Amino acid sequence: MSIFEKFAGCAKRRPTEADCSVPTVEQQVEFTREEELYGLGNDSALDGLGLMKVLMLYRPRPITKYLGSIGRRYSMLHPDVLVLLYYLARHAQGHILEIGPYIGGSTIAAAKGTRDAGVLKRIVTIEHGLPMAKSRLGSSDTIEDLKQNLTRQGVADLVRIVVGEASAKTTVESVRQHLGPQSVGLCIMDADGAIKDALQTYGKLLIDNCWVVVDDYFAVGVAVNKALRSKAEIDSLVSSGMLTTAGFFGWGTWIGQWQRNAN
Ligand SMILES: C[S@@+](CC[C@H](N)C(=O)[O-])C[C@H]1O[C@@H](n2cnc3c(N)ncnc32)[C@H](O)[C@@H]1O
Repeated sequence: MSIFEKFAGCAKRRPTEADCSVPTVEQQVEFTREEELYGLGNDSALDGLGLMKVLMLYRPRPITKYLGSIGRRYSMLHPDVLVLLYYLARHAQGHILEIGPYIGGSTIAAAKGTRDAGVLKRIVTIEHGLPMAKSRLGSSDTIEDLKQNLTRQGVADLVRIVVGEASAKTTVESVRQHLGPQSVGLCIMDADGAIKDALQTYGKLLIDNCWVVVDDYFAVGVAVNKALRSKAEIDSLVSSGMLTTAGFFGWGTWIGQWQRNAN
């Protein structure tokens, strides 16, 4: 079935870019078969090697092409990391908390995964909206661009944007209105490198083994200082057993899991 046939009955419009990332029924059957063959069937056993297999299996899929295009326009993250955000949002249990969406690349990847999971998951993203230092993706109004990009990609209904400084009392209160204790299964941190503060503030919302994605663990150029802080804090949390490392991906993203009972 072609993409035109697939959408012919439900809408009198040309398919959007997001529509084109939806596999046909036949492709979906094949994808499920591949995932079972390569041992990705059991989400609770997913680990670093599993994430590497995800990248290998997803490389030729329509969603990867779509996320690549999202990355070029809206994200500072490596396309592989967007694929992993999509995958984790789709397969990890629980809601999603993000700190630092900027104009929405990472948020769109997670929201698409959430949509394709077919279960009700909330995404709460915290952004203070202060102007960013020089970036390939200029924005004169981060919050407005974030809202517009989420709307354009058809995922605005899945995302609650909390405008504010991540550590501010009002921000924490707003986040808690949307997310209950131990309800978050994926936490994405791409803000200022203050990983310990963020986990101290929001750790109660995370389930045991919550997936944690942090950018930047390594960086060159303007993000070097942020990366030095993230690296030092992650290494210390890993040494004390509060985080476990699954792997390092893309241009310098750390992915691991929160060990609730070690905290
Ligand atoms: C590197 S950008 C995020 C890039 C985005 N994740 C992507 O996919 O391209 C970092 C973002 O975090 C925001 N930010 C930095 N520190 C923050 C803080 N303490 N509280 C809230 N937002 C913060 C910045 O305004 C910026 O939009």
